[in-house]
Amino acid sequence: LKVSERIALLEKLVQIPTYYVLGALSGDRLVYHSNEGGPFSIWYIDTKRKTRQRLTKEPLPLIGIAEPRQTASKVFFARDLSKGAEGSKVFAVQADKPEEEYPLAEMEPMRILGLASFDERMIAFAGSTSSSLSLYLAREGSCEKVADLPGFGGVTDANERYVVGSGFLRKNPKSEELFLFEISTRSLKIFTPKEGAVNKGPRLNGSKVLFESNYEDGKNRLYIHDAASGSTFRPHFTSPDYDAYYPLENPFFGWFEPALGRIWAVGKRDGEMRGFVDGKFVPTPPGCFNGVAFVGSTMNCAHSTLIRPPRILAIDSNSGSTDALIENSLPSEMRQKLGRAHYEKYNSFDGQEVPCFVIESNGAKPGPLIVYVHGGPASEVANLWSAIIASFVFSGYHVIAPNFRGSTGYGEEYRLKNVGDLGGGDMKDMVEAARFAKESGLADSIAMCGYSYGGYSTLLALGMYPDLFACGVAGASIADWVEQYELSDAAFKNIIEMLFGGGVNRDLLRERSPVTYVENVKAPLCIIHSQNDTRTPLVPILKYALKLPKGVPFELHVKPDLGHAVASVDDVMNIVFPAVEFLGKYLPTDGNSS
Ligand code: 4NP
Repeated sequence: LKVSERIALLEKLVQIPTYYVLGALSGDRLVYHSNEGGPFSIWYIDTKRKTRQRLTKEPLPLIGIAEPRQTASKVFFARDLSKGAEGSKVFAVQADKPEEEYPLAEMEPMRILGLASFDERMIAFAGSTSSSLSLYLAREGSCEKVADLPGFGGVTDANERYVVGSGFLRKNPKSEELFLFEISTRSLKIFTPKEGAVNKGPRLNGSKVLFESNYEDGKNRLYIHDAASGSTFRPHFTSPDYDAYYPLENPFFGWFEPALGRIWAVGKRDGEMRGFVDGKFVPTPPGCFNGVAFVGSTMNCAHSTLIRPPRILAIDSNSGSTDALIENSLPSEMRQKLGRAHYEKYNSFDGQEVPCFVIESNGAKPGPLIVYVHGGPASEVANLWSAIIASFVFSGYHVIAPNFRGSTGYGEEYRLKNVGDLGGGDMKDMVEAARFAKESGLADSIAMCGYSYGGYSTLLALGMYPDLFACGVAGASIADWVEQYELSDAAFKNIIEMLFGGGVNRDLLRERSPVTYVENVKAPLCIIHSQNDTRTPLVPILKYALKLPKGVPFELHVKPDLGHAVASVDDVMNIVFPAVEFLGKYLPTDGNSS
């Protein structure tokens, strides 16, 4: 293929729209986030007429959008005013006045971590400056700091009495607590049913708080805490389906018919999700969801799989009938380039079972393969559409995506296995993924690629295992934890302390930094980094590149005026195109070589 043909193919691929269902507004309006037409924006679809309307004007990455409320007609969100550096202010847009977004109040720009609105006027959010992470209440014309949050956390819900959220609030790297802020008394209470437990995602119904916790037996379950009586109990389900499915995590949940106190939940295991109402299975198709909103008895969700492009489904939880509000399919010439996607497990160096997804191209087996390392590290590759993975597969690569220890999706015990050990056991799991791909006859030559934590892992792997990989692509990577810590704001300082097991151990930070092993690097390296990234700052990466041994071919792509989050199809193209061009040179395939 010629360069122009490769660009055209990739462009077609990254233009396949993605969706995240955010919630619903009054008047049958289902609100979602999408890159339909290019820039990521907030949209709504009129679920009766099926007409779509874009609500925001400038590109808006998926960080910091308050859940739209069915009693309201406005959406509140954090608008970055610093070209990707996440210096944000709270904005609002009215559904009846699309593209007329406006700042809610004068405020200092800050990193906004979770917002929730509880009527048309009031909004609560957690904001981080260089010195502190605090809880704020804002309304038209005013914004007030009401409490400091110790550690790291975000707001998940609010009503007329309370603001709730969760995070690392006791600075214990292996626990997460809930916070409950009472608006009338301005008192902040940090709550856990048991010290050391992980509690997440509180959702309010009057004084009742629905949340996920592992406090009883280590398994993530849903619980209700009654702030009025102080009691905590498991919800009672009328159907046994949910318990029989034995979900390991609950990525989405909420109150269903709040007056009756029934709940809905999405359960997850083995990289798949299923929906339940009052414990009863809603016939959701295989795959995963990006955002779920219940309207009456209808479960609205953005559905996809690794090989099926995203769409928005409305599933009636009573009848089970499914209506595609927005449908997309792969053009047949693209479908031909895809092989199978399958879920596998392999044993790592110490016997730990590591789950992974394998996505095969239609090329030869064994053939060139990419170990794709996800970000986070508390995240995962599930059976969900990924434009980056799809770009690799369509360019002729098999992909293995290990859910290394520390990944989400397999319960808290597994998620906590790399806390205090970043770049240790998790790194070896990634290396074992390469071995597994070779031994199972899928791979001959192998590259490692990743973004953010995946970019960090790629740099570290090329330094620690210089003979294993044909080349590497590191996007938004981390080269030096010591310098990264110094450049971070209050929230990210806390995240780094938490990830490294509490406190600042400079020796460990140095030991696990790619820059410590830079002299060993042999394989060609492609570095892609945004100039204004404040989560993984650019400066340590520039220094790392200058230290690469002479003779190691490397590319360094710095993207001006961009930050850590992608805001448009063009941003995705800016990451994927240099990656695929570089791979074509150092890991050629039939369909991708220059
Ligand atoms: P992520 O990025 O993989 O996109 O979540 C990260 C950015 C910063 C840190 C970790 C991950 N950090 O610890 O500073």
